[in-house]
Amino acid sequence: MVDATAYAAYRMPATHAAVSAVLGQLGQDLRPQSLLDVGGGSGAATWAALEAFPSLASVTVLDQVPEALKLGERMLPRATWQQWRLGEPLSTVDMVLVSYVLGELTDDDQHTLVDQAGAAARQLAVFVEPGTPAGYRRILDARDRLIAAGWTVAAPCPHQLACGMTGKDWCHFSARVNRSALHRRLKGAELGYEDEKFSYVAVTKQDNTTPGRVVRHPAFRKGLVTLQVCAPDTRVGPTLVSKREGPVYKAARDAEWGDTWPPAAR
Ligand SMILES: C[S@@+](CC[C@H](N)C(=O)[O-])C[C@H]1O[C@@H](n2cnc3c(N)ncnc32)[C@H](O)[C@@H]1O
Repeated sequence: MVDATAYAAYRMPATHAAVSAVLGQLGQDLRPQSLLDVGGGSGAATWAALEAFPSLASVTVLDQVPEALKLGERMLPRATWQQWRLGEPLSTVDMVLVSYVLGELTDDDQHTLVDQAGAAARQLAVFVEPGTPAGYRRILDARDRLIAAGWTVAAPCPHQLACGMTGKDWCHFSARVNRSALHRRLKGAELGYEDEKFSYVAVTKQDNTTPGRVVRHPAFRKGLVTLQVCAPDTRVGPTLVSKREGPVYKAARDAEWGDTWPPAAR
């Protein structure tokens, strides 16, 4: 139980923030009623899903570690907490979440889990990994398998083609996490926040309507915003927006890393 509690205090706020940021990028018209949080541990991703989707009525967290499940159950008794090991069957639900799990598995086991999760989800499947080159590669691999299985990538990509990020770049995003006093003590940290970097893919059965995606922190100069944008034609490059462009400039000033671009017309 000590390990599970330490994980909860040390990592849950960050994985929760990452999954919240991911779910915040999905269309407003998804209304899943049932959720499986696979490798859900003490339920960080489940909390994010419940906040993003008030439609969720049935929520199940699966994990191999009973202590993590017990701790999660104390914090969220309304969910079902069930011991489960990779390879055991998954029931069919509207939405499957796999948050920070692939990195703990061998390549073969990652494939098994991606295929299983994809087969278990009716509307939406979401995979989140640390925002490192290795985490990104695992997400790309999952993305390929999901597309081959008939899913449509809803986010972050504005297309279903091969990723256009090349060279040393990798697709990742950032979520700010406020640190509690305990969190700061555990990490020996001074700052009142940390930035959790993550990579992700979310797939649905709907058409992808993402116009483009901001894939870096915007850069601001006097009267000019530079957005690094991943476009539907797979190109990743800078978009410059100057003050002369009026409302578009205002939108560019408000745009954040991870947002869609250009913004929807109002
Ligand atoms: C880094 S934690 C992530 C927990 C949670 N999803 C989150 O985002 O905070 C990885 C979880 O995957 C679970 N896990 C790893 N391998 C597993 C397996 N073979 N079967 C079931 N669960 C597994 C671990 O027990 C652990 O709770």
